[in-house]
Amino acid sequence: MYFDKSGMAGMQIPRFDIDLFSPDIMAAPFDAYRELRDLGPICEVPRYGLYAMGRHADVRQSLIDWEAFSSAHGVALNDTCNRYMTGTAIASDPPQHQRFRSLLARPLAPKRLMEMQARLADLADARVREMVGHAPFDAMAMLARHLPLSVISEMVGLPEEGRQRMMEWAAAGFNAMGASGVAQTDLAMPVMGEMVGYICDANLPERFREGSWAQALWHAVQQDELTTEEAQAILQGYVTPSLDTTIYTLGTILWLLATYQGQWEKLKSNPALITRCINEALRFEGPARGFSRVTTRDMLIGSHSLPAGARVMTVLPAANRDERRYPEPDCFDITRDASDHVGFGAGIHRCVGANLAMMELTVMLQAITRHVRQIEVLSTKRTDSTMLRGFERLDVRLS
Ligand code: HEM
Repeated sequence: MYFDKSGMAGMQIPRFDIDLFSPDIMAAPFDAYRELRDLGPICEVPRYGLYAMGRHADVRQSLIDWEAFSSAHGVALNDTCNRYMTGTAIASDPPQHQRFRSLLARPLAPKRLMEMQARLADLADARVREMVGHAPFDAMAMLARHLPLSVISEMVGLPEEGRQRMMEWAAAGFNAMGASGVAQTDLAMPVMGEMVGYICDANLPERFREGSWAQALWHAVQQDELTTEEAQAILQGYVTPSLDTTIYTLGTILWLLATYQGQWEKLKSNPALITRCINEALRFEGPARGFSRVTTRDMLIGSHSLPAGARVMTVLPAANRDERRYPEPDCFDITRDASDHVGFGAGIHRCVGANLAMMELTVMLQAITRHVRQIEVLSTKRTDSTMLRGFERLDVRLS
């Protein structure tokens, strides 16, 4: 836990020399995360000019304390992307953030989600029934992407050519947030630039889909609630994070249920465990590898002095495996109450799409527990995204 500096000199911050973005560590990061936690509540990562936090209590508290840990200078790990994202909802502090957040959250309010639920449940049920007994197939393409691509991209409301590119833009949007010097970060930057260019086209709003989230933002501009630039910045909050995150989570849940003995049988015989299962999966293997904050003052983290202006990566999956918080953290147990995981973040920037994501995942798992007897994973390929963890391909057989 951290305290204000009160004249007391703090200890030097330990160095963490493992490269969290090397392909080997990205494929199997959990030992490195343990080392990060064991080194101390805060570590310096000189390779990337950052600090990193991996313990649950510290990560959670820094996310909650937005005055000391600001998002206003961006939450990516490199300066170029932080310049691009400044002024978006995720990269702002109150009072600006409150205004953006209330507009972002409007179409995601519980009443609006309830209106979508029956349609999502029907689509999920029909797709799962179609895939049971089918020859082996890629569950990422046929199951995990189904609801986000058929419904969510439509709700966002970009015209067809923009909708077609959302997956590519989402992947680039996350990769562009990575540490500088990492190949994926550099490759993603021009694609992200294209997305921003597309969204900022003055002729775009008249082509937004009727009744969509994008059109609601445009109406807010017409009502003088927002400037055009603000609406464009907020729209990025729907385009980038609304697809991949949920898609990776469903793929991961299928893999976990097929891999960790006894868990599928427990869920199948007791679907009331679905919410716990999703939270446990987000704790155990959530898709977000972490974001960052900038300190606004000198402070002590434990007994370590952290200066003002430090960029601190909150390593969410490390916090979610913290043995100081969760007994047997490396055990995937769907009966555990893991609802305080930080897979959706915490505090004022906690994921605004969390309820929608939970709903999409829930209706899929309800359909799966209803119609599937056995899930077999035949082969897997992980994504090389530096900011998201999940499968690019997951070949399965459902019987
Ligand atoms: C399982 C799926 C998802 C996961 C794991 C996830 C994860 C996260 C995390 C960790 C944050 C916090 C970022 C920070 O503190 O800097 C966040 C924020 C955000 N998420 Fe999600 N997300 C998911 C789904 C979605 C969906 C479906 C949407 C859109 C409909 C969405 C839109 C956003 C937005 C706009 C923010 C920024 C909120 C703010 O700054 O107030 N996310 N998400």
